[in-house]
Amino acid sequence: MSQFWYSEDTAARLAEEVLQQAGGHGRIACISAPSVYQKLKQLESTRSDSVSAVLLEFDKRFKAYGDEFVFYDYNNPLCLPEDLLPQSFDIVIADPPYLSEECLSKVALTVKYLTKGKILLCTGKWK
Ligand SMILES: C[S@@+](CC[C@H](N)C(=O)[O-])C[C@H]1O[C@@H](n2cnc3c(N)ncnc32)[C@H](O)[C@@H]1O
Repeated sequence: MSQFWYSEDTAARLAEEVLQQAGGHGRIACISAPSVYQKLKQLESTRSDSVSAVLLEFDKRFKAYGDEFVFYDYNNPLCLPEDLLPQSFDIVIADPPYLSEECLSKVALTVKYLTKGKILLCTGKWK
């Protein structure tokens, strides 16, 4: 499933960035970035804001997060639950599984659908 996990430091840095960008009452969508979502959950108890986050992810192990887990397959980029309204997230962070044009184009459709404007797109490659 092309799963490459962030280090603790990277996940924390990305979580802090999306929290800052979302604002005190913001909504964050994490697309194929479960480590960032998990870090946001870890930080929840240390925060006084009312930021909320959802995880859109293919790996059903993350269903353990309950209602905040949304099954997502980039092959069907706009096949989303009705309650995920267009332009309803203050920031969308995405780390697509593949760097192919096909995958990035499809994920871009999801990102554009969900975001009010802010996007944090992460990619990586083997050294
Ligand atoms: C490169 S990893 C990014 C993970 C990120 N670095 C992290 O630590 O959270 C790609 C992610 O895409 C997910 N994925 C795999 N196949 C997918 C698909 N068909 N649609 C959407 N996401 C998929 C993987 O489960 C994984 O979480």
